Amino acid sequence: MSGRVVLQDIVKVYRSGGGLFRGKTSVRAVDHVDIMLEPGETLGIVGESGSGKSTLGRIAAGIESPTSGHVSLDGRSYARIGSAAWRRERRGVQMIFQNPSKALDPRMTIGAQIGEAMQAHGLSDMQGRKARMEEMLALVGLPGMGGRYSHQLSGGQQQRAVIARALVLEPRVVVCDEAVSALDVSVQAQIINLLNDLKARFGIGYLFISHDLGVVRHISDRIAVMQKGVIVETGRAAEIFANPKHDYTRSLLAAVPAATPAERRARERRIA
Ligand SMILES: Nc1ncnc2c1ncn2[C@@H]1O[C@H](COP(=O)(O)OP(=O)(O)OP(=O)(O)O)[C@@H](O)[C@H]1O
Ligand SMILES: [Mg+2]
Repeated sequence: MSGRVVLQDIVKVYRSGGGLFRGKTSVRAVDHVDIMLEPGETLGIVGESGSGKSTLGRIAAGIESPTSGHVSLDGRSYARIGSAAWRRERRGVQMIFQNPSKALDPRMTIGAQIGEAMQAHGLSDMQGRKARMEEMLALVGLPGMGGRYSHQLSGGQQQRAVIARALVLEPRVVVCDEAVSALDVSVQAQIINLLNDLKARFGIGYLFISHDLGVVRHISDRIAVMQKGVIVETGRAAEIFANPKHDYTRSLLAAVPAATPAERRARERRIA
């Protein structure tokens, strides 16, 4: 298993309304999107609020089905949501959200939650699970903290616990939806470093969704820019920053300070 996720011609339409005086309305959250996540690659998805990033992320993670289009991991189409095959598949593609305190169960220790995730996927016996749980916690920078409850952890530590619970299943791909957006800037950097370390160690691929281009640039190999459900531009991260092709990308970039003097000069040349 290598971890290539292919989304082909994905459309997602949400229908709502239909009251007495209102006609049915529909929103095309994702509109004919094609993207491929290469094994071990970080693909950043950026775009303004409502552009369809989270919808696309949920479809890539297999927790929501597209209205039309095709999704596969390593050449195998995603199984029907809720089926036994689908439950098995979920191990390979994990998802991490913005708010770790909501993702964790306040009544269980974080160690027990990591153990439960392993048990749900039939991984090892009780002894093996405990050893693995401790190993994972050490790896994410929470050594010996398995006995803690989420309210006894900081926001950054909670997100580390969420990452440990996802990674203990040895996924090939992790979809991170605004995974650092709720954290302080210094903590954001620590979590990004952790995600990069884990990627180098295990060859995990990330679909890294954020409205914050400044964050995305520090983690992404490639970036896809989304606007109103459509991918308007994709490219190597450095290339997008140095030479954005689309007006919408330029407007997003304008809000982010240049990272290097060379980049600043390149931008000034474009404006001139
Ligand atoms: N479950 C849903 N039911 C109806 N409409 C939805 C649903 N989820 C998303 N939408 C609509 O689809 C569009 C895309 O939403 P989505 O959450 O994917 O955007 P986003 O890029 O993640 O935005 P944000 O940056 O604010 O998180 C929006 O118009 C939203 O209102
Ligand atoms: Mg979102």
